[in-house]
Amino acid sequence: MTTQTREPAISVRAVTKSYQDLHVLRGVDFDVAAGSIFALLGSNGAGKTTLVRILSTLLKADSGSASVHGFDVSSVPADVRRSISLTGQFAAVDGVLTGRENLVLIAKLRHQRNPGAIADDLLARFSLTEAGNRRAATYSGGMRRRLDIAMSLVGKPPVVFLDEPTTGLDPQARIEVWQTVKQLAKDGTTILLTTQYLDEAEQLADRIAILHKGTIIQHGTLAELRQLLPSAKVEYVEKQPTLEDVFLALVGGSSDTTDEAAIPAGEESR
Ligand SMILES: Nc1ncnc2c1ncn2[C@@H]1O[C@H](COP(=O)(O)OP(=O)(O)O)[C@@H](O)[C@H]1O
Ligand SMILES: [Mg+2]
Repeated sequence: MTTQTREPAISVRAVTKSYQDLHVLRGVDFDVAAGSIFALLGSNGAGKTTLVRILSTLLKADSGSASVHGFDVSSVPADVRRSISLTGQFAAVDGVLTGRENLVLIAKLRHQRNPGAIADDLLARFSLTEAGNRRAATYSGGMRRRLDIAMSLVGKPPVVFLDEPTTGLDPQARIEVWQTVKQLAKDGTTILLTTQYLDEAEQLADRIAILHKGTIIQHGTLAELRQLLPSAKVEYVEKQPTLEDVFLALVGGSSDTTDEAAIPAGEESR
């Protein structure tokens, strides 16, 4: 707990965004405490990337306001950009370069003083030292994603956005990325991650917000979200509702339909 202030690291108020007739964000509000992991959970197309792009100043909201690390995203975007990193769904890693070369390149681009030392330090932190001199094209999916996250940390941004950090990864690689994210938060970094995976939110997040039909329909700790469903309504009386039970109850069933479907008994996707 070094650089934290009392004010939230991320603050979002009444943010709206439409693409022509498509009202993707209809008034989104939430705060993220400094040094915490916040999961924005939503189905495919819910607007997670749109929100992350607004918070990282790549896109302007139609209305509402947001601040990151104390800086307003619309009035001082350059200050916001200096305070953040963004890792997208599609890795920025250059496969022709080695892992180390990728890191050195980014460190140079960000005008860091000792690019080689920064690269070596990050390789070590992400258990990539041995692989560091191999072309990134030879890396497994998990290694590549870890390298991608490592690259986003050059310059030590206090706030990190991870947009679906494990989408497309195999189970082992996902666990590796989860460990990386947990370690980052331990070091005091504020992390906002988006995910469509309920188990990912369960595993990682201090707080979870569910984005559905343009608004945050529910947010809280995992324990708080579980309390939304009495355990007696779950299949086994003694079983706590999972986040999946809560999510399905809140969004009204199958995630890619918009009609108010009945709550299905369960989903086989886990
Ligand atoms: N540039 C754009 N122009 C038009 N529609 C867009 C654009 N970007 C995203 N959308 C639409 O907005 C909705 C939300 O997209 P997105 O924020 O990418 O969702 P998510 O990241 O939660 O999957 C989707 O229906 C998507 O097709
Ligand atoms: Mg997305």
